[in-house]
Amino acid sequence: MAIWLVLQAIWLFLPAMAPNSAALLVGGGTPIDFGRTMGKGNRRIFGDGKTWRGLIGGFLAGLTLGLILLGIAYLFGSETYWGFGNFPDSIIIITVLSFGALFGDLLGSFVKRRLGRERGENLFPLDQYDFVIGAFLFVLIFKPDWFLDHYIRGENIIALITILITIPVLHRLTNRMGYKMGKKEVPW
Ligand code: CTP
Ligand code: MG
Repeated sequence: MAIWLVLQAIWLFLPAMAPNSAALLVGGGTPIDFGRTMGKGNRRIFGDGKTWRGLIGGFLAGLTLGLILLGIAYLFGSETYWGFGNFPDSIIIITVLSFGALFGDLLGSFVKRRLGRERGENLFPLDQYDFVIGAFLFVLIFKPDWFLDHYIRGENIIALITILITIPVLHRLTNRMGYKMGKKEVPW
């Protein structure tokens, strides 16, 4: 039973995990803050690591992956368990998971710049969890029952713990990959 909960937790969270990896692959070009700075220190709002291409590409990647997962769930006739609920609900959940993840990542960079940290500078646990917080926050706002049912209530808390434990590991792995591919300046 617990193993299924763990697998389901990761499966349902994939639309939130894809966007930042996709942004790493397709990102670049015009920064979201257009190079603008704010405050006394003249620090960037978000920095060069947050680009429009990454934002849009990442969002579409999360959405696409979510639709694929949904298709698989429908194919096996278990849209309620492996899916995200009924079709309209599913679309909302996938959309907010993907957008929430990117929003959280953006907010993380905003906080880092305010703290005077340069782009790419490691700041644990903000770098690792900013997108998780964003995704969960958005889904909590738009589909609270889905979030509580799958990640909080009863033994589903295992799902939340699974996510929190695996995320830093996955984060490390994807960033190292990005570094090897020349997409990232630092391997963390
Ligand atoms: N990326 C992007 N647009 C986004 C998010 C990410 O283009 N909205 C790309 C950038 O090339 C970025 C890379 O993905 O450098 C890795 O993202 P991340 O680790 O979040 O950015 P950092 O470069 O580490 O910058 P920060 O210090 O702001 O986190
Ligand atoms: Mg980073």
